[in-house]
Amino acid sequence: MKKVIERHPFEVKIKTFLSLKNKKETIMEQEKLKDLLKQMTLEEKIGQMTQLTPTFFSESGEITGPMLELGLSLEQLNSIGTVLGTHTKEEVINIQKNYLEQSRLKIPLIFMADVIHGYETIFPIPLALASSFNPKLVKRMAHLSAKEAAAAGIHVTFSPMADLVRDARWGRVLESNGEDPHLNTIMTKAYVEGYQGDGLTNKQNIAACVKHFVGYGESQGGKDYNTVDMSDVVLFQDHLPSFKAAIDAGAKLVMSSFNLFRGVPVTASHYLLTEVLRDHLAFDGVVISDWAAVSELVQHRVADSKASASKKAFEAGVEIDMMTDFYLNSLPDLVKSGEVSEQMIDETVMRILELKNELGLFEDPYRGLNDNFTIEEDLRLESRKIATESMVLLKNNDQVLPLKPTEKIGLAGSKATSRDTLGAWSWIGEIDASIAIAEAFAETEMIVDLAEQIVDFDRFQLVDKVVIAVGETGTEAGEAASKTNIKLTPQDIETVKQIYQWNKNIVLVVYSGRPLDLTDIEPYVKAILYAWFPGSEAGRAIVDVLTGKTNPSAKLPISLPRSVGQMPLHYNHYSTGRPFNEENPTIRYMSRYLDVMEGPLYPFGHGLNYSEIELIEANIVDKQNKFIVHYTLSNKSDVDGQEVVQFYIRDCVSEVVRPVRELKHFEKVSVKANGFYQGSFEITIDNLAYVHSDLKRFTDPGKFELYLGFDSNAPKLGEWEYQG
Ligand code: BGC
Repeated sequence: MKKVIERHPFEVKIKTFLSLKNKKETIMEQEKLKDLLKQMTLEEKIGQMTQLTPTFFSESGEITGPMLELGLSLEQLNSIGTVLGTHTKEEVINIQKNYLEQSRLKIPLIFMADVIHGYETIFPIPLALASSFNPKLVKRMAHLSAKEAAAAGIHVTFSPMADLVRDARWGRVLESNGEDPHLNTIMTKAYVEGYQGDGLTNKQNIAACVKHFVGYGESQGGKDYNTVDMSDVVLFQDHLPSFKAAIDAGAKLVMSSFNLFRGVPVTASHYLLTEVLRDHLAFDGVVISDWAAVSELVQHRVADSKASASKKAFEAGVEIDMMTDFYLNSLPDLVKSGEVSEQMIDETVMRILELKNELGLFEDPYRGLNDNFTIEEDLRLESRKIATESMVLLKNNDQVLPLKPTEKIGLAGSKATSRDTLGAWSWIGEIDASIAIAEAFAETEMIVDLAEQIVDFDRFQLVDKVVIAVGETGTEAGEAASKTNIKLTPQDIETVKQIYQWNKNIVLVVYSGRPLDLTDIEPYVKAILYAWFPGSEAGRAIVDVLTGKTNPSAKLPISLPRSVGQMPLHYNHYSTGRPFNEENPTIRYMSRYLDVMEGPLYPFGHGLNYSEIELIEANIVDKQNKFIVHYTLSNKSDVDGQEVVQFYIRDCVSEVVRPVRELKHFEKVSVKANGFYQGSFEITIDNLAYVHSDLKRFTDPGKFELYLGFDSNAPKLGEWEYQG
């Protein structure tokens, strides 16, 4: 095969950080930082490389419980570099003030936190945001949550999570962009652009820390913190592109992941944290460990002491040790005995000082807190709008939705009156401040009959339609929330079956942080609105969609399974030697399960709306080394709507086995009622490239099948041949 677009993974890019600012000014600042570094003792330098929670910073200046536990001295505390997880602006001011009074060199602390989908105002969970298929929406959400977090003194967020996830059992699927590398890459970039905005000199922006580098999404069995074993081809092809996008968009920090790679915990992987991250991806920011991961090298049994764990992690490339005393209590001796290079420590500390400098902390340690910034946007309203665009209408038989103002509605289910709508990582946002569905209905003119008890369901024979809200609780998905059973609870299932006896016009609303197995319940309901965890304005956003005030437009960013046994399930699985034969599904020796229908209940990319949008025309115009796809959509309904046009390819012959289909482009477009939309996009040979067995990424000459439509089962549009 002839090779084109040669690009070796280990090619080093030219560092570009100097171009961000005036070069001369930056060099001067660098000199100042170098002077500062020269004044620092070894212990002070290593202090900068440790992160602790606020509980360590007691105002009394005495050694308190957590410090005793970690065996820290006051001197060590007074040289710490960063803090994670403050709750209020006042807490930040106090800690910073006390610290600056006590510490010798008065290098301000950086405050970091998990601002994942909002700070106080909670937006939909990331998996829901990915469902919008609208990167502008994600960018806006990140921009707004940055403003709110910055006003509370936060400088860095541990977001976005760029891990590719294909297993609904894993609780952290909630924090992901789902199963597709292209969608994940586009959304990850949008988060970084939103948080960092026009740069960190703007005190309403915060720095992004992309995580978890890398491979965490493939935890075996969907069990959190579990082993990962993947090939380099999969790493380079599927898992690195989202991180590359974040780094290219300027993400200031990277967090290493808990999992193994090639048998080595990533925290100790020089290959990943230095060769891949620094040399190949040209990352020049700060690398932070995940929570206590440096000490976990001992639990993994690849180190037997603080010293050996610290040496391994540091030499691999971990620069900030999150929440252990390992670096503090062992790196100084390792440097003094010559086992660890002080020059490497200096390079690390310079990077941390540069970040502090870029955040403007040397000029203003209370960054943004004295400026009385006002947030002009109505964040609750923004959250409501964003949520309506992030919930997926999976099914709508007999056009049971939207509900009409004249209809009498029954409302039931474990979630009908629940304010548990925020989802994991909403540690500042308050559940009590969120809006339940019943509350939102009460704000409308509609007649809604609420039944909280199963015994009451016979009265639903008197209503036109019944909305049943069911699903997971907020603690059932997220970190350390893996499950082997991803069905609704028996009570939720029972509610639906009971109501079905009295009324067949059932609309199911599902709250969840993962794709659930709805197989049992699906035949009983006419419509399904998959709301995920929509955030603070959940109830209002759901009612907006149910009543047609907002036309839904979201799509599944992850396949909805028929059974938990299908995990990991994703549309872009590799071609097998014995592919499932749809025409003859009973053939035995095929890649399939005996006891469940092949494929998902609802596919990746699926999602309905209240319009009737069709693809009425499409063609491919061949240009040299690229082609253009032109298409026309028509909307035959009286309702303005949006569709996500999705373009997939299938590489007919390749050197390593490729997925059966791959999403290569999507665009969300608006089509006016009874109107048309004409669009086009370009696909270049670079879009068709893949990672070969030697880890080089390039495009082979040959044939590609092309598919265009509104989900991952999109019909074939044609073929295109790359001549090479
Ligand atoms: C999680 C990270 C998170 C960190 C700090 C860890 O347990 O894995 O995603 O950013 O804690 O809260």
